Amino acid sequence: MAVRKGNLDSICPLAERMFLSFVSLSVSEHTTKGMTVNTPALCFRSKKILAPMVRVGTLPMRLLALDFGADIVYCEELIDIKMVQCKRVVNEVLETVDFVAPNERVVFRTCVREKDCVVFQMGSADAERALAVAKLVENDVAGIDVNMGCPKEYSTKGGMGAALLSDPDKIECILSTLVKGICKPVTCKIRILPSLEDTISLVKRIEKTGVAAIAVHGRKKEERPQHPVHCEVIKAISEAVSVPVIANGGSHDFIKEYTDIEAFQQAAGASSVMIARAAMWNPSIFRREGLCSLKEVMQEYIKYAVRYDNHYTNTKYCLCQMLREQLETTEGKKLHAAQSTQEICEVFEMGSFYEETTAILEAKASLKAKTQDEDEQMEDTDVIKMAVRFDKREYPPQITPKMYLLEWCRKAKHPQPVYETVQRPLDKLFCSVVTVAEQKYRSTLWDKSKKLAEQAAAIVCLRTLGLPEGKLNEGENHLINKRKRENEEFLNNKEHEDDHLVEASHKRAHFTEGASDSSSSEVPQ
Ligand SMILES: Cc1cc2nc3c(=O)[nH]c(=O)nc-3n(C[C@H](O)[C@H](O)[C@H](O)COP(=O)(O)O)c2cc1C
Repeated sequence: MAVRKGNLDSICPLAERMFLSFVSLSVSEHTTKGMTVNTPALCFRSKKILAPMVRVGTLPMRLLALDFGADIVYCEELIDIKMVQCKRVVNEVLETVDFVAPNERVVFRTCVREKDCVVFQMGSADAERALAVAKLVENDVAGIDVNMGCPKEYSTKGGMGAALLSDPDKIECILSTLVKGICKPVTCKIRILPSLEDTISLVKRIEKTGVAAIAVHGRKKEERPQHPVHCEVIKAISEAVSVPVIANGGSHDFIKEYTDIEAFQQAAGASSVMIARAAMWNPSIFRREGLCSLKEVMQEYIKYAVRYDNHYTNTKYCLCQMLREQLETTEGKKLHAAQSTQEICEVFEMGSFYEETTAILEAKASLKAKTQDEDEQMEDTDVIKMAVRFDKREYPPQITPKMYLLEWCRKAKHPQPVYETVQRPLDKLFCSVVTVAEQKYRSTLWDKSKKLAEQAAAIVCLRTLGLPEGKLNEGENHLINKRKRENEEFLNNKEHEDDHLVEASHKRAHFTEGASDSSSSEVPQ
């Protein structure tokens, strides 16, 4: 990421706060993932949706549309061949997930804010490749869509886009492969065919594949955007199928402001509405209270563009689409001439916003680099490492990996495990190294407490040695059984002398998580 060099010292505390808030953000995200609660599948009824738009539907526009009230946002169409070459990278500085091409270009960038409402649209003419792409992005998006309406040559000549409309077998194959192969809802976006009868029979065939919704752009593939949209055809489709139909194509004839969205939905008898151009011209079209001034909208757009390090050419393109007739004004000309994000910001009197935001991002990047350095300093080649964390919910109450490790050491006649823990000054996180039979083990993930770090180290050791960890799903839990036996023994001997009682409670202490933070809390004294 290209970030400006600034005075780091003056902004470091702020950057540190941002970094720490990022850490807690990732943890809560992780925690949510760890829970067995499933996020309800995206519903496509009564929704106002940002349509897929090449170059326009990148992260800043999607987030802005959500802020203004869009329920679902589609990304720009991304071609399967390009996507399968991408690597998923967590960008800790921007707090995004990036899908990065071999030439290091970010092809798709997303973030937690849109995770439950972004639909990834792809261009594909090959079921297996489509599935590979869907699997690559599935966990970072709310749904997958296949573009079956693009009439442009670059799309149709590869058999993608509107070319698919004349190959229903392929449509069926792609969609059923996706529906069967992934857990997220699958949708497709089509154009209407020359005859209503053919359109309806195609849509019925699509419905049978198990898609969650069908977006219908109410124009034939030869028709241009300024041609009237065929609402009556969308209506006939909506009546013929029970899967939600998303009406699209109303920007030119219908949708000038928020209240028009409902008028279009009614005219098309559809479950939901998808908006492209009206949102590209002014994304506040989704705002129930009415449109915001273009200046305000553009400034909000720029904030997201800077915050998410959007490429300046893309930012400029989107702003030009908003300015439209005003491109010949002084502001329009200056925008046209801008050659960097900073210059774009200056056109809109946002120079100081740019300075501050990039300084924070730069400080965050440098903080991240420092913590990486510390990790590298801990790069002990004789330590066995794994990226693991201790999650209490995966274990029976009062049973921990540390207890299992201690028990194993006793049985194997090894000295008891020795834990050495360090705390990183920058983010106050802990990492523990456990030594067992002269071998050291540690997790590469840093934890919020010393206790958690020690448990993580114990897990690494147990996993490396192929030993049970005491997890709930491990089946027979001998420590629990042992503990039960000891409790019974304890109860039987209850009436016996005090000496016995003291001994039994001592034994129990072996299997109870120590209240102290001490690394040897579970080691009998
Ligand atoms: C700039 C632009 C880019 C578009 N890119 C895509 C795309 O990537 N995928 C797609 O399915 N449709 C794409 N479309 C078509 C729109 O999604 C939509 O079907 C069309 O504009 C009609 O809707 P509207 O009347 O609301 O504009 C694009 C349209 C525009 C204006």
